Amino acid sequence: MRPSEIRQLLQLRRPTLDREAYRLEACLNIDDLRRLARRRLPRAVFDYVDGGADEEVSLRENRAGFQSWRFVPRSLRDVSAVSTEAELFGHRIALPLALCPTGYTRMMHPDGELAVARAAASHRVPYALSTVGTSSVEELATSGHDDLWFQLYVLRDRGQCRALLERAAASGFRVLDVAIDTAVSGRRERDVRNGLTIPPTLSLRALADIAVHVSYWSSMLGAPALRFASVDDLSGVGSDTVTAANMANLFDPSLDWDDLAEVRGWWHGPMLLKGPVSPEDARRAVSIGIDGIHLSNHGGRQLDRSLPTADMIAPLRQALGADAVIVVDSGIRHGADIATALALGADAAAIGRPYLYGLAAGGERGVSRALTVLSEQFRRTMQLMGVASVAELRQGGSALLRRRGPDGPAAG
Ligand SMILES: Cc1cc2nc3c(=O)[nH]c(=O)nc-3n(C[C@H](O)[C@H](O)[C@H](O)COP(=O)(O)O)c2cc1C
Repeated sequence: MRPSEIRQLLQLRRPTLDREAYRLEACLNIDDLRRLARRRLPRAVFDYVDGGADEEVSLRENRAGFQSWRFVPRSLRDVSAVSTEAELFGHRIALPLALCPTGYTRMMHPDGELAVARAAASHRVPYALSTVGTSSVEELATSGHDDLWFQLYVLRDRGQCRALLERAAASGFRVLDVAIDTAVSGRRERDVRNGLTIPPTLSLRALADIAVHVSYWSSMLGAPALRFASVDDLSGVGSDTVTAANMANLFDPSLDWDDLAEVRGWWHGPMLLKGPVSPEDARRAVSIGIDGIHLSNHGGRQLDRSLPTADMIAPLRQALGADAVIVVDSGIRHGADIATALALGADAAAIGRPYLYGLAAGGERGVSRALTVLSEQFRRTMQLMGVASVAELRQGGSALLRRRGPDGPAAG
């Protein structure tokens, strides 16, 4: 062996000094990031991210829903220069993907929403801040991201609600994403069993956990106190202790179509309705000036046994025609899921847990890793399918897909 070859070999084996970067690089898919997050987080916090409502039927089926589709690739197409770029609400984005709103994000990592926004900005994809986020709209405006969305839970206190939208608009948020699936909080049994409070309190169990998750607790105890940055008045919760379950007491369960029309009047930019919206309700939404549907069953965290969102995309597109925007989430874990969502008729896919696993695993770099993984998977899937652009993928539509039943091929 020549000396240069030996040098090359040694270089290959030189241990990297940045162990976190090394661990993140070693995550080849979202499941790898999930495993890393599971090691880093206390059990109750991991379960809060990972869990679903009741029997977790929708949580399981969401993923299976996307995985039940198979591709019918096009042969002998020039895919040497593939573009994953898309357009959403007049913005060019690098990938037809958005980052969903998630509450209490700083509980997963002290850098929280700012880290998510920065990673989203560098990957040129939109990010929606939650009403129950732990960073304010003004703080997020400092992230340098020019494609921020705001997710609204319509609060019982309409004055507070409207003021919040005015602050979001003044801070440069472009799109309003109104969640309508949280009349009450879904029953997440993992959270109840774990006695999860927000922020996590130093119960006896948490004290015991400190020895196991030293870096989590030391980063949390050193960070500013967790608080709901946008909702100041928590008296509506009805208890001194905020839990994932009673937080929804702030939201208005009597919300109806008239209220929604009123909210539409308060917001002057594009507006999406977020929930497991049926084709009939979607048509009604569009008729009152809503620009599109963010099709979601909240990642299986609200109404368990609601249909997997993959099953709802095509009927929704058929009901709405070509113009209304459809963004779909709940169960997207692979770039192939994004391709499936688009071929079924969505304009973009969206993710919640995948980026939260990344955040817990490594802050901004972890979110970035999740986005890199999904982006590379999506690009490779497109190339192997023989489609060179997002427009081609959408035009190809159902001709690019076949549904596979649990016991073998099915027509379709
Ligand atoms: C930990 C967590 C917190 C969430 N918080 C909110 C929220 O505050 N507002 C909201 O509209 N949706 C919330 N969601 C739902 C997400 O916006 C999204 O619909 C869902 O995570 C998508 O499914 P996926 O996790 O399978 O990608 C939350 C989801 C998770 C996992």
